[in-house]
Amino acid sequence: MRKIATSLALAMLAFATPVFAQAKAPVTATSPGGIVSVTLGFEGEGRPVYSVSRKGKPILAPSRLGFLFTDAAKLDRRIEITGTETRDFDETWTQPWGEWTSIRNHYREFKVHLKETTALGRVFTVSFRLYDDGVGFRYEFPGQPNMALTSIAEELTEFAFAQDGTAWWKPAFLWNREEYLYNKTALSALGTADTPVTIKLADGTHVALHEAALVDYSGMAVARTEGNTLRAQLTPGAGRPKVEKQGAWTTPWRTLIIADDAAGLYMSHLMLNLNEPNKLGDMSWFKPGKFVGVWWNMIKGEWSWARGPKHGATTANVMRYIDFAAAQGIPNVLVEGWNVGWDGDWFGNGWEMDFARPTEDFDAAKLAAYAKKKGVQLVGHHETGGAATHYENQFDTAFKYAADHNITIVKTGYVTDAGQIERVDPDGTKYREWHEGQWMSNHFVRVALAAYKYKVAFDSHEPIKGTGLQRTYPNWVSREGSRGMEYNSWAGKNPPEHEANLVFTRMLEGPMDFTPGVLSLTGENGSAILSTKAKQLALYVVIYSPVVMAADTPENYALHMPAFKFIRDVPTDWSETRVLNGEVGDYVTIARKQRGSEQWFLGAVGDEESRTTSFKLDFLTPGKRYIAEIYRDGDDADYRTPARHSIVIEQRTVTANDAMTLRLAPGGGAAVRFRLVK
Ligand code: NOJ
Ligand code: CA
Repeated sequence: MRKIATSLALAMLAFATPVFAQAKAPVTATSPGGIVSVTLGFEGEGRPVYSVSRKGKPILAPSRLGFLFTDAAKLDRRIEITGTETRDFDETWTQPWGEWTSIRNHYREFKVHLKETTALGRVFTVSFRLYDDGVGFRYEFPGQPNMALTSIAEELTEFAFAQDGTAWWKPAFLWNREEYLYNKTALSALGTADTPVTIKLADGTHVALHEAALVDYSGMAVARTEGNTLRAQLTPGAGRPKVEKQGAWTTPWRTLIIADDAAGLYMSHLMLNLNEPNKLGDMSWFKPGKFVGVWWNMIKGEWSWARGPKHGATTANVMRYIDFAAAQGIPNVLVEGWNVGWDGDWFGNGWEMDFARPTEDFDAAKLAAYAKKKGVQLVGHHETGGAATHYENQFDTAFKYAADHNITIVKTGYVTDAGQIERVDPDGTKYREWHEGQWMSNHFVRVALAAYKYKVAFDSHEPIKGTGLQRTYPNWVSREGSRGMEYNSWAGKNPPEHEANLVFTRMLEGPMDFTPGVLSLTGENGSAILSTKAKQLALYVVIYSPVVMAADTPENYALHMPAFKFIRDVPTDWSETRVLNGEVGDYVTIARKQRGSEQWFLGAVGDEESRTTSFKLDFLTPGKRYIAEIYRDGDDADYRTPARHSIVIEQRTVTANDAMTLRLAPGGGAAVRFRLVK
């Protein structure tokens, strides 16, 4: 109790007293270091517009604000400012797990209070939080007689970029949800895109457009209207408007991270900072860590989730995986297909799924005891097939069952086409929801609360996009939400540039369960993965998740033990992260410091071209010597030939004064462990 009171007091101290002002348009405010500024003014007919600039250069030209409602007049003109409020905030907070232990949250808040001049007289606030590396803003509506119930048809928020540039984006509203490759086009050629959209403006400035704290609202895609102007396009509701609200409400934060280069985008904490602090409480029971699992053989089509001769999740198979994990110091074993419900066509049909009933050939009690004896934990799996209400109906039994079997991490899934999530209302009426609609945004919070009750963390596949909610609900530890390793099993594999795209787009959302480490470099029917072996190791540092799979099978790892050593050594929880260099879709080098340790790890990945990455080792502690254990592409390594397996493992003694140059093969990468010389 005392601890909570102290941290509340600290948080309050961090706020300077607000300054109220009677204001005449346009009104302007600047970030604490004077780098980013916003202006709110009006165009003809009293239409509010906001603009954003950085170091005096325009990033967003005047961009419109407003809403269309299904049952009330639109709100976008005949509006005036009634006052502004400005205050400064500066606080450093701690993450229970993550890429950084401490996060500084330093911003200037600028609220612009607005009122319609018409008879409706609706009032609202546009609330900006200005950071030196970007801006977030949201609409805030107090409860008011003319808006007791709000039914949003569309949000009219625009992002009118002041220059053209290059944009990396995935199409929105298509059947395969978030699982598309990135398009690289002119900003002025963008279609309808999921966020984050990453843009390199003509002058080199990098911008990532996204949203933070997506709760009780529908996900925002953006569609280009004309020129360089994008406009919000909200995800549909099912049998109801895109968004419904009662009384007072706010939108999620609309966010722009703005930086000199791609690395600067990744280094921003803006999105986490725009989320509310931990609402759950103690997370000490959650241990970040790696897992192997009964999985890759299913993805390759050699085993099945369903019962029958190819069933993967048998007691004997799982015991072998537990033995392997225990022998290799891997703390967790995922098992998919362990429960009743997979036998029919489970894709988009999860009505048979029972997350408290194992199949006859999976001896849950025996395996729980065996895992415990071996010091390993099982990772649970709840594939809903998109039957989200059916899942909610068994939350309590499902998470209790997990807890009763010593399971503290559950992987969840929503495999069905976009727009095909099944919601069933209490009266039995069925609706087809979108994965990113308002109802699903609330569903995921319900999962977090239901799982937390039993001290279970979850990793959602086919999820809603990440918007930093792991700060508020820290048991939501990871998610998929892009094309992961599984695509490397099938035809139409991820191209070599995929991960260099992910780091500067999808990874700005937060952790991704990518499932790296397929050292056999082989997918279904013996097909070759478009990667070198060293790149598979690099992904453990480059693609962040607190729970990370070693996705290949024990039999395959047995054939690649020297390289597997890096997977054994690499941790999944970090006190510090530095992006040392990178260009979107081309290459990236990231160094991370292990939590509670002096060890650093480094990963570099490239694209289809051969290149070198050079960086200083000034992240190491000065005056200390380190052994660098280097796993790099062999001189002949190439993702297009059998030499994709060519890897050199070597050691060097280094200090913080040194620099390092590593060659990345076509489709290649490099991984380094820096361990202190005692
Ligand atoms: C898709 C997930 O991404 C994959 O990891 C999982 O094995 C299948 N769904 C089945 O749940
Ligand atoms: Ca490229």
